[in-house]
This record gives sequence, structure tokens and C-alpha cells, in this order.
Amino acid sequence: MSPALSAAEIRDANTRYHDVAADHYDSKWGIDFGDLGQGQVTAKVRKALGREPARYDRSLEIGSGTGYFSLNLMRAGLIEQATCSDISPGMLETLRANAERLGLEVQTEPADAERLPFADASFDLVLGHAVLHHIPDLPRAFAEFERVLAPGGTVLFAGEPSRYGDRLANVPKRVASAVSPLWRRAISARRAPAGDHAQPDAALEGVVDVHAFAPGELTQAARGASFVDVRVSGEELLANWFGWTNRTLEASANPEDVPWAWRMYAYRGYLALQKVDRTLLEPRLPAAIFYNLMLAANKPA
Ligand SMILES: C[S@@+](CC[C@H](N)C(=O)[O-])C[C@H]1O[C@@H](n2cnc3c(N)ncnc32)[C@H](O)[C@@H]1O
Repeated sequence: MSPALSAAEIRDANTRYHDVAADHYDSKWGIDFGDLGQGQVTAKVRKALGREPARYDRSLEIGSGTGYFSLNLMRAGLIEQATCSDISPGMLETLRANAERLGLEVQTEPADAERLPFADASFDLVLGHAVLHHIPDLPRAFAEFERVLAPGGTVLFAGEPSRYGDRLANVPKRVASAVSPLWRRAISARRAPAGDHAQPDAALEGVVDVHAFAPGELTQAARGASFVDVRVSGEELLANWFGWTNRTLEASANPEDVPWAWRMYAYRGYLALQKVDRTLLEPRLPAAIFYNLMLAANKPA
């Protein structure tokens, strides 16, 4: 966590950054609510649990963003009633629009993960995707997850950056940044316009991510809040390097000039490499080297 900023400043930066990001978040990250998205989230839950998932009656998502995890899990039939919370009202607004378009009924509640406005023991599943690394006081947040879960309930997080995996991902980012002028010339693209106000404040980007985890730290965070059956696993290696390379290149160009064929190549290549990671690498290599970590644990019954 940046020593220069207080926890309140980090929370405020997260709110502002994600409010601005909300409009174009789904297109930027290729978020899908069809078969592809449902397949992705179901695979994540299966991997995190290490078994076929059960059906959960009442779920609470932390940092739900535009609904990637909860809306897809509802459509896949793994969640009955979903409550989606986020510190960014802008993200929740996009989530409500997505839910309406998909014909799904969800409760939304603006909330900081460290202070959840829900009664004790009111959920069977507390879940999140790519959110723990934004939370300044993790022990406090995990204590809240434990409090709002019913006895025997499950906590499940995926998409958290691993410390070592994050460092490895800097390599493709730097290489892509260095070759981006050549790449733009090859596809005849202009530079990205400076000071594009539709983009989130770039200065906040380094502020909103406050952790990258070693697997043992996630285990410790869960055990420290009295969770049991703690399981931490790793996800995405080659797919991630490929994804960061392409996103860094694309971010350097005027979006209108990036050809559709390139976007398709980037998208399909990412999916193909995800499959290689899933079938060959994830079952064999240590969790710490993957870009994303996932955690599953239970509240004692
Ligand atoms: C990287 S986005 C992930 C969104 C979504 N879960 C997904 O996977 O697409 C992180 C989300 O966490 C939210 N967030 C950041 N800090 C938070 C906090 N302290 N409490 C609750 N949500 C937070 C952000 O507003 C943002 O929507």
C-alpha cells in the first residue's frame, strides 16, 4: 500500500476511478454475459472450489463492478438471489442496466468492503472477482465477510493479482510499450489522443491497486478471520502475457484506427491460450507464478 496515502484516500481514488471507468468497462475488458462469460465464471468457481459447484441461495458480491461474476453465475444457475455491492455507484449503475437487459433481478448496494451494511449471517456465499487487491484493510474486510456469512457458508474470490505473476507481467507490458510505435505504423494507426477525458484518470491508476499477493497471504487473511478449508490456487499465465501485450499496444493507438481483424486476433488468441493454461499449466505449476490467484474457504458450520 502506498505509504503516502491514507486508507480513506485510497477508497476515494477507487470510487472516482471506477465511476469514470464504468461506461466503457465491459468493452475494455471484453466482458461477456453469454455462453462465453457463463463458461468462464463457472470454470473459475469450479477451479477455486476444486470440485463441481453447488447452487447457492443467497449471494453477496463484493466489488461487483458491472456484474461479470454475479450476473453470469445467475444465468448459469449457480446463484438464486444475488446482492451486488461496490464502492463505486457508477459501476452499480452499469450493473443495473446490464441486469435489466438480461432480464435478471438483483439487489444493488453501494458499500465499502470493510463496512458492509448487511445483517449477520445473511448470505450463503460471499464472492468477488478482482477486488481484494483494492481493499486497504484486508483483515477488517475478511472479518466482515465472515460476519455476514451464515454458518457453513462459503467465501470465494478469483482474479486477484499474484505478486510474482504481477512482476512477470511487467515484462510483456514493457516490451509492448517499446514496440508500440512500430506496431502503430504497421497497422496505420494514429497515436492515442492526449488527455482523453473518457478514460479514467491515469494518475489514479497507480493508486487504486494496493496489493499483489503471495498465496500464503491470502491463506492467512482467510484463516485470520476463522475461515476453514482454505484453498488458494493459481490461474492464467500465457493468456495473461498475451492479453497485457495486446492491451498495451491498443492503449497506445487511436481506438478508431485499431482494425477489427486485430481485435479478433487478440480476443481469440487470448481464449486459446486460456485453454492451454487451464489444461496444461494450472494443474502442474505452483500457484505463485500465475498472474491471478483464487481463494475459497468456509465458515465453520
Ligand atoms: C477491477 S474492478 C472488478 C469489477 C468486477 N468484479 C469484475 O471482475 O469485472 C474492481 C471493483 O472493485 C471496486 N472496489 C474498489 N475498492 C473497493 C472497496 N474498498 N470496497 C468495495 N468495492 C471496491 C471497484 O469500484 C471496482 O468496481
